[in-house]
Amino acid sequence: MVTEMFGGLWFNSGVKLEFVTFSWSRHPAGWHERLIWEVDVLENWEAMRILKAAHEVGLAMLDSLAQAATALREERRSEALRGFERVLHFFDGELKIHFDHEERALFPALSRIIGPAGPVGAMIGEHDSLWRCVDDFTEEIEVLRDDVAGAEQRTIAEIDRLANHIIWLLRGHINKEDTMLFPLAEKTLDERTKREVVENMALVERLAKQG
Ligand SMILES: [Fe+2]
Ligand SMILES: [Fe+2]
Repeated sequence: MVTEMFGGLWFNSGVKLEFVTFSWSRHPAGWHERLIWEVDVLENWEAMRILKAAHEVGLAMLDSLAQAATALREERRSEALRGFERVLHFFDGELKIHFDHEERALFPALSRIIGPAGPVGAMIGEHDSLWRCVDDFTEEIEVLRDDVAGAEQRTIAEIDRLANHIIWLLRGHINKEDTMLFPLAEKTLDERTKREVVENMALVERLAKQG
């Protein structure tokens, strides 16, 4: 049984003073650790740090995809294939988890405030478009892998087209989230919901590890 008392503390963040609520409880971590955790959630929302870091990795992977597409156009096919496979591995792992972080933690919380249509619905629609494109791309890469030297020009042209489409889609998507959706979430979600988003993101990762 946890007994909670709510109080306040003026915390000097260096730029401005923030009022931070905290609680004493028989929480196993103790009130001090809990207070530090609460300050961290409010001052530096962990969800945003994780989501934005994933975007940075995603943008770097799109640069790798563009380089692999260039290698393919310049007939350096084996090098291109290695690059494409690295990017597909990223799509199937880290990108899936990132989309799950958004679709199972951030978006449900945000849609309770602004509704499921509008920006949230648009972002989910873009996730779906990207996966359809990645499925087509994966099929073409399998054809290339089966016969790197002998793959037809049609396959090469299709891989180039799909790679460029994925780059365009995902760069635009990341830009919309970074400049519109994430600031909206930071501004509109209350403290309790922000903590809930962090907890649901951790749950997504635990489920992903369990396979
Ligand atoms: Fe997204
Ligand atoms: Fe994202």
